[in-house]
This record gives sequence, structure tokens and C-alpha cells, in this order.
Amino acid sequence: MDLNLTDEQQMIKETMKRFTDEEIVPVARENDINESFPRDILNKIASLGFLGGPIEEKYGGAGMEYISYGIMIEEIGRGCSSVRTTLSVQISLVGLTIQRWGSEEQKEKYLPMLCSGDMIGCFGLTEPGAGSDAVNQSTTALLKKDEWVINGTKTWISNGGVADLAIVFAQTDKKKGHKGLAAFLIERGTHGFSTIDIRGKLGLRSSNTAQLIMENCWIPKANILGEVGDGFKIAMSALDNGRYSVAAGCVGIVQGCIDASIRYAKERKQFDRPIASFQLVQDMIARMIVDREAAILLVYNAGHLKNKGIMATKEISIAKYFASEASMRAATDAIQIHGGYGYSNEYPVERYFRDAKVSTIYEGTSQIQKLIIGRDALGIQAIR
Ligand code: CAA
Repeated sequence: MDLNLTDEQQMIKETMKRFTDEEIVPVARENDINESFPRDILNKIASLGFLGGPIEEKYGGAGMEYISYGIMIEEIGRGCSSVRTTLSVQISLVGLTIQRWGSEEQKEKYLPMLCSGDMIGCFGLTEPGAGSDAVNQSTTALLKKDEWVINGTKTWISNGGVADLAIVFAQTDKKKGHKGLAAFLIERGTHGFSTIDIRGKLGLRSSNTAQLIMENCWIPKANILGEVGDGFKIAMSALDNGRYSVAAGCVGIVQGCIDASIRYAKERKQFDRPIASFQLVQDMIARMIVDREAAILLVYNAGHLKNKGIMATKEISIAKYFASEASMRAATDAIQIHGGYGYSNEYPVERYFRDAKVSTIYEGTSQIQKLIIGRDALGIQAIR
């Protein structure tokens, strides 16, 4: 793997860095305080042609290779994890999943609108009783003549309350376990489909999170994604893409912590000198830098495998586990360097801290990532 960025990757990095500094950073604090969803930022990313990320150009995407996509997500994550989450769901969990599993008709119908920002997507897997144990779905899908009837509730769904399109996972035959699961495309406006926003989150306050409620929600038979029985594989393959994007976003949080800590350490004087001159402060910054370098390499390694079309579930789990935990370490130390000021929203580090935490939880907790890595090492297949 060549570790030097290509001219195109460099161009994407510079473009997204400038965009993040000019369009995302100045409004991130206000959007966090007001819990306001930055739809305008999504539209601007769409205008740059980047909202399609690695989606193929024939469906309106940018056709990026995966390291470029990681670089783009990393830069956005440096500015605001709420915007980054919205994008990760839109591109990785929804767009790429439809591209991989959808019929030609579904791809032509939905992908151009997702890439242009005319449609927002969400990924409905988690339920009140099915988090880490994603197989254990209570949502049901029954085929009645030419329509599916979906009943159930999804929770913690990023983009849920603003989504025009939901990928919803449901059980068609409980006896079959994960082989009975299927994925469905449900459009907003479908009778029986509603959403309720979830408020009071620790972080990611300007990204929308909601419950999806399906009450006798009838959808055409053709709205199934893939086949009956593909549901769990669709969910897991989507999460491979989603976790890659979360890992890249966490590299961005670490970078944000480094930038803020260096700035502050040079400015802030104690004992008649900038705190940057104290070795215990340098120690914290050095650890963040080592974490950033290691996390970047893990993300690029996973991206490189994805570019070659190799299934990289374990490598993605390694990258997601390491980068998300590193983002938490960096944010904790960044607050420490800022002292009392770091505890207030006058500086961005408290937001980095609140936003970093969820990256060790959503799209598979750190424990689930370690379980995937450990099972792979030990050759253990089934959890039950
Ligand atoms: N790609 C394709 N197929 C895969 C796969 C992958 N990455 N991983 C597993 N599969 C297949 C297996 O090959 C197996 O298929 P066969 O039976 O045909 O052999 C099948 O799926 C079952 O696999 P497992 O036996 O490994 O399943 P498990 O029940 O033991 O679960 C798990 C494995 C890793 C614990 C999984 O349940 C998991 O990842 N849980 C965490 C769920 C999660 O990340 N939830 C987050 C929700 S999304 C989110 O956060 C939304 C948001 O809005 C941000």
C-alpha cells in the first residue's frame, strides 16, 4: 500500500478542509446548543458533488475510492461529528447498501436523490430490545397478497426524524432466526409510518435521532431490498461500511483535539510561561498525535482492502474500535489541557468529548468490535 496521498486524495483533503473551516466550524457550537439539524450544510456538500461519496457516478455519486471517502469524512468529523454522522448514515448505511443490494430499479429511483441531498435516508436496525443482539428483531413483516405489512418500533435511528427513506429490518419468520430477516425500503408518507424525535442526548445534538414506528404499514412487495433471508447479511455488510466511516470521523475528532490543545497550550500562561512548555502537557499532546497516526493507518488499511473488493469486517472493526477509543482519550486530555475553560462550551473540546462518546457505542459498541476481532482470531463462529 502506498502511504502517500495521490493528487486526487490531496485535492479532496484540501477541499474538505477548507469547506469544514469555512462552513462547518463557524456554526457547530450554535447548532449544538440549538439542537438544530444543518440541512443547509448537507446541501452545500451536495453542491460540491461530494454527498455521493463512493456511490457510482452513473447513479449520481462521486465514484470516490474508499481512502478518498475516508479523508473526506475525517475532515468533516474534525469540524462537527453531528454533520459527519448524518453523512455516514446517508452515504455508508443507506446509499452504499442500496447500491450493493438494490434492484436496478431501486438504485435508479433512490440513489440520485440521496446523492443530490433531495432525499435523506436512515437505517432502521436497532430496536428497544435489539441493540448488540441485532438478530433478535421484534419488527415483523408479513406478505399479504402483493404487499408487505410491517409492524414494530425502531429506536436510536440517526436521521430518523428527517429521513424521506428508511431501510427497515424485520423478521418474516421467527423460527428461522437470522435467516428469516429481510430489509425493506419505506418512504416517508407511507400510511402507518411515523417518527418521534429523541431529545436530551449527551452529544451529537445537531444530528437528528428518532424512533421509527410502523403500525400496519403496508408497502409494495417490490420494496424489499434483496431477498427474504438476506436481511442480516445486508445489515452486517452495511455496518462494515458504516463502521469504516465512523472510524474515519473519529480520526477527525482526534485531529480537532490536537489543534485545539496546541492553540490553547501556546496561549495559556501559568507560572509565568505558556503551559505548552510543561512536559506533562506535551505528554498529553504527544499521545493524541500517536493515536492519530495509528488510527489513520488502520483506516487507510481498511480502505485499501475495500478498494480491492476484499471483505474487511475484522480490519474495519479494528479501525473503529481503536479510532473511537482514541477519540475519547484525546477529548478527555484536550479538556484536561484546557482546565476549567475546557469544561465550558466557550471552547469546542467539551463538544468533542460529548460527541466522541457515542462512537464507542453506535454501529457496534467497542465490546462488539472486540468480539468480532476475538472470534476471528479464535475461529469461533456462533455467539449463541
Ligand atoms: N457481511 C456479510 N455477512 C455477514 C457479516 C458481514 N460483515 N457478518 C456476519 N455475516 C453473516 C454470517 O456469515 C452468518 O451467515 P450464515 O449463517 O449464512 O453463515 C450470519 O451473518 C450470522 O452471523 P453471526 O453468526 O456472526 O451473527 P451473530 O448473531 O453472532 O452476531 C454480531 C454477530 C457481530 C454480534 C452482530 O450481531 C453485530 O454486529 N451486532 C452489533 C449490531 C450493531 O452494530 N448495531 C448498531 C446499529 S446501527 C446504528 O447504530 C444506527 C445508527 O443510526 C447510527
